Amino acid sequence: MERFSSVSMAVVRRLPKYHRYLEELIKNDIRRVSSQELSKITGFTASQIRQDLNCFGGFGQQGYGYNVDELHDEIGKILGLNKLYNTVIIGAGNLGQAIANYSFFDKSGFKMTAIFDVNPKLVGMKINDIPVVDVDELEQFINEHNIEIIVICTPKSQAQKVADIATRTNIKAIWNFAPTDLKVREDIIVENVHLSESLFTISYLLKEKEEQYRKKK
Ligand code: NAI
Repeated sequence: MERFSSVSMAVVRRLPKYHRYLEELIKNDIRRVSSQELSKITGFTASQIRQDLNCFGGFGQQGYGYNVDELHDEIGKILGLNKLYNTVIIGAGNLGQAIANYSFFDKSGFKMTAIFDVNPKLVGMKINDIPVVDVDELEQFINEHNIEIIVICTPKSQAQKVADIATRTNIKAIWNFAPTDLKVREDIIVENVHLSESLFTISYLLKEKEEQYRKKK
């Protein structure tokens, strides 16, 4: 982290995309790729890709391109995906259950250890083999299981409350789905997710397309 601290967040946010596409290439048994080819599949320009990868020392060789496996592993390491993060979900409703059922997170090193809820009907259940535990046990559980990341999937009104409980512990990051800005200690990383932003982008692009079509008529 220290080593790459000058890297901009814009670059950091492109890395998971490179990682995902490289994984696809590996699945298709493609072992070497040029920045031009990567450009075609990622939608970023070849010079952007070279510039991004140069932030980390650069991996390609002139005239050879990138070794796909090596680049995939290196980006994985840069992203910290060679580590295991003990993670818990808070809120076992629609979203919490969907995340629990999506085993990809677990496979990527985010070990979903438990899901916490206030609803006694849910407590004691298992979702994708992950136990649903009473939220009253959250603080103790985090301390005992060395939990580093919490995923907040509670209603908005409860999000700060659960964040306050968790931040009494040594958690390092919050993946927050509740539509609210959390106030937490400065050393805790908060990543807010808003699916609606992506959806509203579709709405904008559709509107623009329709306008262009109307102008042409
Ligand atoms: P839901 O109502 O199905 O589930 C919420 C769960 O939280 C319930 O099981 C409830 O018992 C539990 N809960 C309530 N208070 C709690 C507390 N103090 N501690 C622990 N658990 C508690 O709601 P849904 O649809 O799963 O949405 C969850 C949250 O995610 C909401 O804040 C919603 O606005 C947000 N959301 C965000 C999206 C995004 O793109 N960021 C997309 C969908 C939902």
